[in-house]
Amino acid sequence: MKISTVSLAMLAAVSATPALAVDWASVPGKEVVLFYPGQSSREWTMTEGEHDGAAKYKGGKNCSDCHIGEEKKKGDRVVAGKTNEPTPIAGKPGWVAATVKTAHDDKNFYVHLDFNEGTQPDSKMDAAFATKVTMMVSDGAAAESVRNGCWSTCHDDNSKMASAGAAERTKYLGKTRAKQTRQGGGDELKPAEELAKMKAAGEYLEFWQAKLNPGAKAVADSFIVFDKRDEVKPNAVTAEGTLANGAGSVTLSRPLSAGAPYKDLVAGKTYTVGFAIHGGHTAKRFHYVSFAHTLVLDSGAADLVAVKK
Ligand code: HEC
Repeated sequence: MKISTVSLAMLAAVSATPALAVDWASVPGKEVVLFYPGQSSREWTMTEGEHDGAAKYKGGKNCSDCHIGEEKKKGDRVVAGKTNEPTPIAGKPGWVAATVKTAHDDKNFYVHLDFNEGTQPDSKMDAAFATKVTMMVSDGAAAESVRNGCWSTCHDDNSKMASAGAAERTKYLGKTRAKQTRQGGGDELKPAEELAKMKAAGEYLEFWQAKLNPGAKAVADSFIVFDKRDEVKPNAVTAEGTLANGAGSVTLSRPLSAGAPYKDLVAGKTYTVGFAIHGGHTAKRFHYVSFAHTLVLDSGAADLVAVKK
């Protein structure tokens, strides 16, 4: 009697936390280096005379084509205030390397990150959480994200960016703005019916986040990024994770078909993903980010192949 009660309780615990279902030791990992970008906005990356890659980017070369493998060097330079960072945080590491694994079963998609964020000075920007781990997902409908990943949502006038002044502005897609300048898109949106069409065509990104404190359960939330970063309710994303002495281990998961606004995750389609880690109680732009990586389910040519479990 007692034993069966215990095993039922265990079963219930397992089904409530689907991420436990994957044996990660059996899944191959891919190293993704996240670097500190400072105020390197989308607009900065596209301005000739400021970013050495701007002309070639406009000519068709993607960020990842030039920069995969250079993240550590870049992060060390920016975090020290040599490029695009007017307020460096003393003692902050320039980059964080993560081992990323992806998998799915009949129902759910899972992404697992193991990383070491090193010794992070406490920035005191986010009192509630020490570290946040984020993945953004694009199915390609927001076309620019296929080429520049997270930079499609990162603007010169987002909160704490170079052209924001005192304004608070979350991530957005440039295409939602009536006009776009070197300073970003500001607050003037395209006409409502045009925005409604874009949204109906799926032109937005998903944003999945795990919020971590040492010794505590991870907290999950999710957003979509369109004309702003909008929380999805009810949230279909779950998170599990641990954080101890700088070492983090996180699994984010959601149903393959979670209903709108979530996109169906299906085999045969290539997704673009980008990762971010906010260490040392940072918020907003003071994070580590990855360049864009491709993701497929089951098999195909991509940086990340989510194996069927
Ligand atoms: C044609 C190659 C090329 C492309 C494409 C390109 N870049 Fe660059 N990028 C450079 C070069 C060259 C530099 C100058 C620093 C260096 O030599 O590494 C640079 C510098 C940077 C820096 C500043 C950090 C540093 O190293 O000083 C960031 C951040 C950056 N690029 C991000 C991007 C992003 C984001 C994209 C896509 C929107 C992109 N780059 C596209 C070549 C490129």
